[in-house]
Amino acid sequence: MIPFGDPSASYQAHKSEIDQAIKRVLDSGWYVLGTEVDAFEKEFASFHGKDFHAVGVANGTDAIALCLRGIGLGTRDEVITPSHTAVATVAGIEQAGCTPVFADIDPITRCISPKSIEKRLGTNTRAIMPVHIYGQPAAMHRILEIAQAYDLMVVEDCSQAHGAEIDGQKVGTFADISAYSCYPTKNLGGTGDGGVILCRSKEFAEKIKSLRQYGWNKARESIIPGFNSRLDELQAAILRVKLKYLADDNDKRRAIALRYNAAFKDLPITLPSLVENELHAMHLYVIECDRRNELMEYLRSHQIGASLHYPLAVHQHAAYANRISGGDALPVTEQFYQRNLTLPMFPELSNDAVEHIISTIQNWFREKN
Ligand SMILES: Cc1ncc(COP(=O)(O)O)c(C=O)c1O
Repeated sequence: MIPFGDPSASYQAHKSEIDQAIKRVLDSGWYVLGTEVDAFEKEFASFHGKDFHAVGVANGTDAIALCLRGIGLGTRDEVITPSHTAVATVAGIEQAGCTPVFADIDPITRCISPKSIEKRLGTNTRAIMPVHIYGQPAAMHRILEIAQAYDLMVVEDCSQAHGAEIDGQKVGTFADISAYSCYPTKNLGGTGDGGVILCRSKEFAEKIKSLRQYGWNKARESIIPGFNSRLDELQAAILRVKLKYLADDNDKRRAIALRYNAAFKDLPITLPSLVENELHAMHLYVIECDRRNELMEYLRSHQIGASLHYPLAVHQHAAYANRISGGDALPVTEQFYQRNLTLPMFPELSNDAVEHIISTIQNWFREKN
């Protein structure tokens, strides 16, 4: 079966460097928050430009919660976000004690719709959390205008978009603070859980460093109520290796996406939009079509691991149904979830596999339509 993503291929592609990094950490005898985490934070920050600070944390959900706690949000503070995202986005907002409010998505970008954000603004709105879903940058310029007009914070969820750009500027650098997951399947993924927060303010980075470890100051006195959300040295060392190849790997993903898009352009399929002024990180390649369950089964019967991201929007999960404001008025999201289908996408996907996927989809449309 050709998987839709393949973290083991990423390990094999950089095996000797990763093995050396692991050995270095094991030999050092220091396993949590040490020199590898420090170095990863510096390298991740400078990957985004010279004015940034990064803080490694335990996972992307914590990164979201810590961003919101770090800016002082909590009970009754509303955060507008899409329902079309990983459940983790909303879990992170609630973990911080905030109240998520769902906005609809734009049908082209599949990211949060600025028009829908405006409809959700209320007296308790404090922040907007766009998600660069599948690696597609959200409409950051418009979102920042809305935030400025209504005095709101913006926290970008970049968990699926490491290295994506708008007009040459990396996502994660538009808002004042941004959250990333480094879960193994991500474009920048370790071999376990991991996350990062990116910000412009050194003071804010210091606050997050305190929050991630019991609210400690340098003397290990808890000066604010904190958490345990530490990044371990093994993950940091592995992420340092992967970071060196991130831009190249994203290019490989985009090259595959361009081949898919060219091959499918005359089929009755909605394709991911690849526009000139943006670098799509192409974390997932997601099409939309009628009878998608039939096509998914057909692909699986031809050894192609087609999948759904996601089977349900967040407001359709039992844990969130009928209790999150905005969840009853998401027509574009609802429509999308009847038609979405994820095809294999990872930098090491072979030419033969891409050809097989393309010809199988073309055959299905010839045979069944
Ligand atoms: C959009 C999005 N936000 C947040 C997360 C949370 O990341 P983690 O699984 O590392 O907690 C993920 C990853 O699953 C994600 O895809």
